[in-house]
Amino acid sequence: MWTTLKAKAAEVADRRIEAMLGADRAADFAVQAGDMRMDYAKTNIDVATRDMLIGMLETTGVAAKRDAMFAGTAINETEGRAVLHTALRNLDGGPVMVGGADVMPEVSGTLKRMDAFAQDVRSGKFQGQGGKITDVVNIGIGGSDLGPAMAALALAPYHDGPRCHFVSNVDPADIAKVLRSCDPATTLVIVASKTFTTIETMTNARTAKAWMGEKVSDVGAQFAALSTSAEKTADFGISPDRVFGFEDWVGGRYSMWGPIGLSLMIAIGADAFHAFLRGAQAMDVHFQAADWHENMPALLALVGIWHNQGCGYTTRAVLPYDNNLSRLPAYLQQLEMESNGKGVSMDGADLPVHSGPVVWGEPGTNGQHAFYQLIHQGTRVVPCEFLVAARGHEDALHHQHQLLVANCLAQSEALMKGRDLDEARSKVADKFEGAELDRQAKHRVFPGNRPSITLAYPQLTPFVLGQIVALYEHRVFVEGVVLGLNSYDQWGVELGKELATALQPVVEGVKTAADKDGSTAALVDFLQKHGV
Ligand code: F6P
Repeated sequence: MWTTLKAKAAEVADRRIEAMLGADRAADFAVQAGDMRMDYAKTNIDVATRDMLIGMLETTGVAAKRDAMFAGTAINETEGRAVLHTALRNLDGGPVMVGGADVMPEVSGTLKRMDAFAQDVRSGKFQGQGGKITDVVNIGIGGSDLGPAMAALALAPYHDGPRCHFVSNVDPADIAKVLRSCDPATTLVIVASKTFTTIETMTNARTAKAWMGEKVSDVGAQFAALSTSAEKTADFGISPDRVFGFEDWVGGRYSMWGPIGLSLMIAIGADAFHAFLRGAQAMDVHFQAADWHENMPALLALVGIWHNQGCGYTTRAVLPYDNNLSRLPAYLQQLEMESNGKGVSMDGADLPVHSGPVVWGEPGTNGQHAFYQLIHQGTRVVPCEFLVAARGHEDALHHQHQLLVANCLAQSEALMKGRDLDEARSKVADKFEGAELDRQAKHRVFPGNRPSITLAYPQLTPFVLGQIVALYEHRVFVEGVVLGLNSYDQWGVELGKELATALQPVVEGVKTAADKDGSTAALVDFLQKHGV
């Protein structure tokens, strides 16, 4: 399968995308899900290649695995768990069975409790000891931070609740800055941790507790917890009526649809949060029902596989022309790289090809004035994913939005078309001549033929954001199944955690660095001499 893919990529490597692009291709190589459109016409994929890629879905049993995931089978085989974040947004669906029991009553009950609590905080029925809650501080890291933080920023135009802050880093600079801007008497602290053991989160939670204790008598009363461990949240002193639980079949990086989304719900209100869930649910339905040729998550995954495992382009840039999506690349880094950054397949054998790509990016147009130079003229090809809305939320400044859209479309066009030497020469022919003209012109050549896809949508509403995030979740799923790996564990984060625990007493000077390697020991020595 992989040999055929690579051979096909090599065979068409020199073909110009632009030459393939007629009106028919624009229609054939675009797909619609609801009112969202994904254009992949500016890639070097032709009908035969697409058929071959779709054949890989059949060979690797993606449909059966997809159905198993939605049905609650333990497809996370290394941890023996179901993968059911989709149940958290199953607002109109039927029962979802795990181990013979329907999980939906529990999911719906928790969502109702979240709705009520968010409403109480927003209305002032739930008060801090100094009055109505003015600030919410979500303390969490990884999936317990990136999802709600990304979405709260993305949906800023819908934000009509208390101010929302996100603290994640164990670096005290992070929490200190946030707490400086809050009044303990009117702040709600939400400790978000699936396990309730993550050292960064628990350290920051204790810091917040001490901060609150300086001004407020009943500290626990202004804390809420989002976790799978009722026991640990109780030990921390948080009353069960402010604990919102979920099950281990919700992976951390897939968890913002349930309790981990509480801060977002408080910011935008329950109705908008439900619209967000409905957008994701609509994508779930599309993913399950659409034919592969029309299936947006499947095609998105296949375009990625073509570029990474086929063409050998190992990084991918996510470029939202939507400033409110500025945390989307960071969110996707966890979603995609923690899920599919694995070296072995499900059965323990080494992967025969590269794992998922390096994902990175920044919003346009900012990136244009920073790293786009490399994307256009560097020696590596970086497939790009553009995201763009027809309308922003600033009606009075719509002309600025039009300029934003023009820039987005111009970039994918420029990447595809490039500029040849003759054209480059004509651009500077009035300034230079002879050999100098050639030399100068060469610097102005754009190789072009660089692939991109564009995801376009009417406006970044809660519903659309739900569609986008679920689209990427299912893309990761499909890619993981085709690669034959487990997208739902993350053993690769463990070693660093173990070594950090062992190094803490060394850094504090309680233990010597004698058993450390020479480089680490020398760095400890340097930092200790400078006051660590
Ligand atoms: O260390 C990685 C990780 O386990 C992520 O998968 C997870 O999202 C994050 O840490 C936070 O975990 P928790 O929600 O249990 O604090």
